Amino acid sequence: MMLWYVAAALIVLFVLRQAQLRLMLSLAKHRSLGGHARLSRLVARLIPYYEYDETRFFCADDAPAEVAVRRREAFMRLAALYAQRYASSAALTREVAPALSDLQFTARYRVPFQFSRMVRQHLQGGAFLESSAGTTVTDADGNRFYDLAGSYGVNLFGYDFYKECIEQGSARVRELGPVLGAYHPLVVYNVRRLREISGLDEVSLHMSGTEAVMQAVRLARYHTRRRYLVRFCGAYHGWWGEVQPGVGNPLAAQATYTLKDMDTAALRVLRTRRDIACVLVNPLQALHPNAAAPADSGLIDSARAAGCDRAAYAAWLEALREVCSARNIVLIFDEVFVGFRLAPNGAQQYFGVRADMVTYGKTLAGGLPIGVVCGRRELMQRFREERPADVCLARGTFNAHPYVMGAMHEFLQRLESEPVRALYRDLDVVWERRARMLNERLRAAQLPVQIAHLSSIWTVTYLQPSRYNWMFQYYLRAAGLALSWVGTARLIFSLNYSDADFAAVAERVVAAAEAMRRDGWWWPGATLTNRAIRRRILRELLQAWWATSSIGSRSSPRSRYSGARQ
Ligand SMILES: Cc1ncc(COP(=O)(O)O)c(C=O)c1O
Repeated sequence: MMLWYVAAALIVLFVLRQAQLRLMLSLAKHRSLGGHARLSRLVARLIPYYEYDETRFFCADDAPAEVAVRRREAFMRLAALYAQRYASSAALTREVAPALSDLQFTARYRVPFQFSRMVRQHLQGGAFLESSAGTTVTDADGNRFYDLAGSYGVNLFGYDFYKECIEQGSARVRELGPVLGAYHPLVVYNVRRLREISGLDEVSLHMSGTEAVMQAVRLARYHTRRRYLVRFCGAYHGWWGEVQPGVGNPLAAQATYTLKDMDTAALRVLRTRRDIACVLVNPLQALHPNAAAPADSGLIDSARAAGCDRAAYAAWLEALREVCSARNIVLIFDEVFVGFRLAPNGAQQYFGVRADMVTYGKTLAGGLPIGVVCGRRELMQRFREERPADVCLARGTFNAHPYVMGAMHEFLQRLESEPVRALYRDLDVVWERRARMLNERLRAAQLPVQIAHLSSIWTVTYLQPSRYNWMFQYYLRAAGLALSWVGTARLIFSLNYSDADFAAVAERVVAAAEAMRRDGWWWPGATLTNRAIRRRILRELLQAWWATSSIGSRSSPRSRYSGARQ
């Protein structure tokens, strides 16, 4: 009998403990949709398409007719300018887009979807560039832009630097050519330098940042014999399913916990659970903890916020380091983006915290495709001495491709050169001064735009509630600034920007903002708040959902919104 009581008590204790762990996990989730992967996918599936008709397009914020007319005229002027200035590039885009799904996607998601069709029809900037030099790129029509797109972050030292890395790196490996499987001797230097930079014992070579992250997580699971990977809300780590459990991935991740960034509830989970193999950190999140990488397609109002508190983020990484050490959890810094951008030895050096594994990519191979994992010896080993059949595989046909190794060799050598070292000196002081200067100019002109930044990675924030902030990207392009498809959400500077280059960019940003204000897009409606905007959009969504899920859907699959208030 006694035995039964003990068994029952143990079961109750076990169930209570499981419930407590479950509760802790729930409390450690960010309250936004980004913190709830399944729910966010469900919500995404429910959101119906609708679009504004040509009237509503210009007064989605209920601006008076006079303002709407001003906007319409400005839009058509801009459309005429784009049509004339970017004609060849737009023609190439039109020709290839129907057969290039990548391009269809980026073209569609440049602005909030309600406005997208009109914008695609009238403001075709084109996706074709023909050359680059200094801090500029030139398109298929011969227009020159200051490059703020930064090739997804690859362009750290200026395009000429990478052209040289590729040319000279190719020359070094030409005799071997594209022979795979064996290594070119240059790999020896690359591995030595990567060990020095990361402060870690071993290196593995891959072809993309996504693959490097996959391999780091796989190794952490293999060595800890635990299932779960922890990532933080909003952080991007490539497009592998396990690190992208929310919108964008049709399947649920198998073993991923998405926790609140910079929050003690997350530390509590790490301290108590026994199933966590690794914690994956993208230090870019210091700029916008718990928020996904911004894009202008999500700029439905002016709620976008950002700002880096370096000391607070360093303290957070330190706390993660402590708990991971105490619990034998592998701490992985995903430095694919920020790697060499913040400091020559990366985010570990910048924030003063050491990881067990680090992934690098983007700029590291001098402009060619790359992903690298560096890690402690006992974590990098892919076999077990005592269990020879229990291995952890990672292969890739093009890993350690001689041309990639050649360009990486050039990159790593130049990283040690005096001109490059000089760029890193006072790096933050330089970019802080530039951001402050531009923000002061914008403030002095009473423009509702500010810049937030992590060193040379910038994002535009908007001070006054508006439905049209996404239009700013088109004014900036017209002013000769090249942006990526996420628009003003991410401006990536290369470190070869001189003060004079930067002054020219600042001039154009201010002029573009002034033009946009003149054209009425930032009309300051007295009742216009971010909350009111969101409420209005929710109402429109419900109406569209109703229309597409009832009789209306049979006659018209696409819902048009004319703006009649109900
Ligand atoms: C932090 C981080 N990790 C991983 C990746 C994926 O790298 P790739 O695009 O080379 O696969 C990216 C790409 O932007 C990234 O920023």
